Amino acid sequence: MAYWLVMPAAGSGQRFGSGIPKQYAPLAGRTVIEHSLAPFLSDAGCRGIVVAIASADDRWGSISGSLPHVAAVTGGAERSRSVRNGLAALAERAAADDWVAVHDAARPCLTPMLRDKLLSAAMTHPVGALLAVRVADTLKREADGVVESTIDRSHLWAAQTPQVFRYRDLCQALDSAFAAGRAPTDEAQAIEWIGRRPLLVEGSVDNLKITSVVQLRLAEAILAGAAACG
Ligand code: CTP
Ligand code: MG
Repeated sequence: MAYWLVMPAAGSGQRFGSGIPKQYAPLAGRTVIEHSLAPFLSDAGCRGIVVAIASADDRWGSISGSLPHVAAVTGGAERSRSVRNGLAALAERAAADDWVAVHDAARPCLTPMLRDKLLSAAMTHPVGALLAVRVADTLKREADGVVESTIDRSHLWAAQTPQVFRYRDLCQALDSAFAAGRAPTDEAQAIEWIGRRPLLVEGSVDNLKITSVVQLRLAEAILAGAAACG
């Protein structure tokens, strides 16, 4: 299962609210981003990795020395721009039909098993695929501070990463979104906007995204549990 990886890591972590951007927060003896990269560094199918970092990033240099095969590019003002910059850096190496996985630097608990489940599903689908989990909570639509209605959640999923699409499709989808003045919040949305329907692959709540320090504590527990299971 050959593919490329683009990792957006250029966010400033406003909701995390710490002096350290969350992708560099210490987690189980490493930084968050090192955990997020791990399932790809260890995968022979991953042909190359590009990380998009902020222009003012002064921390990447302290970990990149041990990652000689990982390229870095400057990210953009939105996550989608960071991803597009990462894709541009692959232009000379990736073929139009090659698969590209995009995985957030802020998701440190992806397992090799879930990675492979997603990749094999995506690569047998005409459009591509993303990990997602079924929404568990009862959802309320609000209007003026009170409940307007309860939303049927039976068809609702929360999107995660990785998300896997063909190189040309993802470049074209993002470019057409930007041309229309829109910034998709994930790759799938850009693909949806060009009229295609990505496959949903059931992920795990363990594949959480660090948003605040709460998820950092949860990630510690998840990684400790995984280590104990070997
Ligand atoms: N990201 C990026 N470029 C941006 C914004 C976000 O590469 N301009 C990356 C983040 O570094 C993160 C991923 O996209 O790995 C998911 O974004 P998010 O969780 O929103 O992170 P931040 O934008 O850093 O956090 P916040 O929204 O709280 O500021
Ligand atoms: Mg953000």
